[in-house]
Amino acid sequence: MFIDAPGTTLRREDLKKAVEVAALLNELERAGRGTLVDVAAGKAYLGLLAVEFLGFEHLVVIERDERRLADVRHAMGHLTRPAKIELKRGDVNDRSLWPECPAVVTALHACGPASDAVIDAALASETKWLLLVPCCYGATIPSWPLAEAQAEKLGVPRHAEAHKRFLQSIVDAERILRLEAAGWETTAVPFVAPHVTPHNLLLRARRLKEPTRMDDAARRRARLLDA
Ligand SMILES: C[S@@+](CC[C@H](N)C(=O)[O-])C[C@H]1O[C@@H](n2cnc3c(N)ncnc32)[C@H](O)[C@@H]1O
Repeated sequence: MFIDAPGTTLRREDLKKAVEVAALLNELERAGRGTLVDVAAGKAYLGLLAVEFLGFEHLVVIERDERRLADVRHAMGHLTRPAKIELKRGDVNDRSLWPECPAVVTALHACGPASDAVIDAALASETKWLLLVPCCYGATIPSWPLAEAQAEKLGVPRHAEAHKRFLQSIVDAERILRLEAAGWETTAVPFVAPHVTPHNLLLRARRLKEPTRMDDAARRRARLLDA
């Protein structure tokens, strides 16, 4: 669907991407059916293959780069299943691009603050499921200054690898607690081996709205933010 130039074969990075997409298709299969939103979609490998292999009948693709959307349009021509597919060019933060109450929102390698924007918009849309793989940790992430302040307060050494891991943990902890406090039961799992991608953390969130769990997460998040 995506590589159709005569004589072209899959490159090493394509093979790695295929492993990631296959793992997430398994996740999507378990999440059920309904409107699927592929955000920060790039070429929308995940969304389009979910239509083709899993039979999703309504796909919304949100992506800011027109060239990527042109690739999506091209690949759509190879689909063998009928589906309603909406391509929305713009920023993840633009809520007008989002459908109401989708079944599943997925974002594979949403760069830096885009992961936080996906969480906020997915929660606002009341999605049933969110499958999010964050990537590109750094200063543009909203909770980064908090993580740096905590590292300083606790005396975490500045040695780059240890420091980076600590900051990433705080960023992901805040994301998990934000999801849980809003009522989305969340698991954090490595979805592929680290040699496939070092950004292999999947946040798998399901709308549950269980009050005790929400209260506990809200308390923990307040402690994290105040620490
Ligand atoms: C690392 S690529 C991942 C693409 C695709 N999900 C994949 O795994 O192949 C991130 C994509 O997100 C898009 N993106 C990043 N920030 C965005 C934002 N704030 N709003 C919309 N798209 C964004 C980029 O244009 C890029 O296509």
